[in-house]
Amino acid sequence: MAVLVTGGAGYIGSHTCVELLNAGYEVVVLDNLCNSSEKSLDRVKQITGKEVKFYKGDILDRDILEKVLKTEKIESCIHFAGLKAVGESVAKPWEYYNNNISGTLTLVDEMRKHGCKNIIFSSSATVYGDPAMIPITEECPKGTCTNPYGWSKSMLEQILSDMQKADPEWNVILLRYFNPIGAHKSGLIGENPNGIPNNLMPYITQVAVGKLKELGVFGDDYDTPDGTGVRDYIHVVDLAVGHVKALDKIKEGIGLGIFNLGTGVGYSVLDIVKNFEDATGVKIPYSIKPRRPGDIATCYSDAAKAKEQMGWTAQFGIKDMCADSWNWQKNNPNGYETL
Ligand code: NAD
Ligand code: UFG
Repeated sequence: MAVLVTGGAGYIGSHTCVELLNAGYEVVVLDNLCNSSEKSLDRVKQITGKEVKFYKGDILDRDILEKVLKTEKIESCIHFAGLKAVGESVAKPWEYYNNNISGTLTLVDEMRKHGCKNIIFSSSATVYGDPAMIPITEECPKGTCTNPYGWSKSMLEQILSDMQKADPEWNVILLRYFNPIGAHKSGLIGENPNGIPNNLMPYITQVAVGKLKELGVFGDDYDTPDGTGVRDYIHVVDLAVGHVKALDKIKEGIGLGIFNLGTGVGYSVLDIVKNFEDATGVKIPYSIKPRRPGDIATCYSDAAKAKEQMGWTAQFGIKDMCADSWNWQKNNPNGYETL
C-alpha cells in the first residue's frame, strides 16, 4: 500500500517523502511543479536510496487523479499541494481559491470514488487569526484571516471536517503548522523560494550568501520583549516526522483529528538574527522598517496535544534550524538550479 503525497516536490513535501521512505512507506508524488523542481525528488532518492514514483500533474485534473488512484494502491493521502504566498493571494484571490479549494474538492471527490478516505491536510497557524490565547491550543477559536491564502486554509478545514462528519468512513487529520524553517542535514533538499523571499529565514540566508544586502525587520514596536514579532519556528524535519506519526493515527481510525505542529517556544525576529549569527558565524546586517500589514505580534503553540495523542515532539532546537537552513543555502545558492 502506498501514500499519495500531493505537492511532494515542494519544501515540506520533499522532507516528508524522506521520512516516509525511511519509515518503510511506498511513496507516490503528484505535483504540477508550479513552485518546485523535480530535482528535489532525485535528491530524496539520493538521501534515502529508495524510489519515489512521480506523476507530473495537477490536483484540478480529474484524469490524472483517476490514473494515479487506479494504478497505484493508495491507502492515504498527505495533501501539501497548494499556493502559499500570502501577498500574492491578496492580488490573485480567484487563483488561490481555485487552486487550493477547487483543487482539494476535486482531489477528495476522486479519492472517495476510488475508496480512499484517509487524508492529512496541511493547515496553518494562520487559521487562528490574531489568536485569542497564547500559547495557542487547538481549543483556541479560529479567527479572522487577513488574506485569501489564510481563508483558503480555514475554509478547507471546515469542508474536510463537514465531509468527515457526514461520512465517518473518512479519517481526516488537520495539521496546523507554525513556522517551518531548516533543511535536511544532508544539505541536499531545502526551501527554494521564487524571487525575493517573503519569509524571514530564507531572507536571512540570502543576505548571508550575499544575494540580498540587508534584512528589513518589520516593526520594533510590538508588545513583545524586544518589540519585534514573535513566532514558533519548527524544523522542517520535525514537521515531516509529524506527518508519519499522523499516518499512524489514521491507521487507528481517528475520525477527525486536529493538531498543532510547533515547538511551543516563541522567538523574536532579533532572536533569530542572533541565533543565526551564533550558529553560522555569519553577520546579518539589518535595519528596522515599518510593520508589515497583516502581521500579528505573537504566535506560538501549545504543543501538548500532538505529544499526548500522537507521541510527537519537536527534537531540533533553534541552533539546528539556523545551521541547517544555512547549510542548504550555502551549498545551493541558486536552489535546485545550481545542479
Ligand atoms: P511549496 O510551494 O514548496 O510546496 C507546495 C507544492 O505544491 C509545490 O511543489 C507546488 O508545485 C505544488 N502545487 C501547488 N499547486 C498544485 C496543484 N494545483 N497541483 C499539483 N501540485 C501543486 O510549499 P510548502 O512550504 O512545502 O508548503 C506545503 C503546504 O503546507 C502548502 O499547502 C502550504 O500552504 C502549507 N503550509 C506551509 C507553511 C510554510 O510556511 N511553508 C506554513 C503553513 C502551511
Ligand atoms: N519578518 C521580518 N522581515 C522579513 C520577513 C519577516 O521582519 O523580511 C518578520 C515578520 O514580520 C514576522 C516574522 O518575521 O514577525 C515571521 O515572518 P514570516 O513571513 O517568516 O512568517 P509569518 O509568521 O508571517 O507567516 C508564516 C507563513 C504563513 C503561515 C504562518 C503560520 O508565511 O503562510 O507562518 O504558519 F500561515
